[in-house]
Amino acid sequence: MEKATETIPVSSHPTTLEKQWLNAVSPEDFIRNNKNFNSLMMKYRCAIREIQTKLEVLNDEFSVANQRNPISSIKSRIKTPASIYEKLRRKNLPFTEESIVKNLDDVAGIRVICPFIGDIYTMANLISSQDDITVLKIKDYIQKPKDNGYRSYHMIVEIPVFFSEGKAAMRAEIQIRTIGMDFWASLDHQLHYKKDISSLVDIASIEDELRRCAETVNLTDRHMEEIKDLIGDVKDI
Ligand code: GTP
Ligand code: MG
Repeated sequence: MEKATETIPVSSHPTTLEKQWLNAVSPEDFIRNNKNFNSLMMKYRCAIREIQTKLEVLNDEFSVANQRNPISSIKSRIKTPASIYEKLRRKNLPFTEESIVKNLDDVAGIRVICPFIGDIYTMANLISSQDDITVLKIKDYIQKPKDNGYRSYHMIVEIPVFFSEGKAAMRAEIQIRTIGMDFWASLDHQLHYKKDISSLVDIASIEDELRRCAETVNLTDRHMEEIKDLIGDVKDI
């Protein structure tokens, strides 16, 4: 009697990414691609670690000199495979290792949350002046907020990371913002990623309301900075 052929179980609801891989490549190619992809993601994770350490060192140094931390917290993330795939597809670019490295600036993402607006520029200048960091792009959404009210300071940087077979220049996106800006951006993000919200409620008036909230947060950020300067003056005396 003929032996039943074994089938490889696949998820009952394959994602677009899974479908693409499952349909387009041989098992050997799939495994090789997967290995290369994992190795690339490992490199991005190492770049995040390097940058995070630099930020922590700068924070420690500043806090010894000034008795306060210019960084409240640091968050980091690696873009998910599905999100990498979607972004490349949106731009009509191939889903290959070379294409990821060449075309995507934000596979490695670091978010630095600061107490005060002034701290954002202090951190940005300190990062830029490190001689192994190359700043490739800056978007200052604090000087020039987006129409929806979004504020943050974005830097695309390149940093060398040393591996056994040599060094690789890895790119990362650093977003620097105040606690207030982060609070606003988190709510904005949540609202926009709930896809059914536009059909449930009046999205235009929500967007108006969000823009107003962004202005209020900005005013509060600026008042807080003034208060800090006042306290700083008193402390110096
Ligand atoms: P992306 O394709 O999203 O990378 O756009 P971009 O390359 O033009 O970059 P940009 O600097 O404008 O935005 C990059 C990142 O900033 C986004 O992935 C978000 O994390 C954040 N961001 C930008 N705009 C907004 C916004 O309006 N709201 C929120 N919540 N986050 C934003
Ligand atoms: Mg981007």
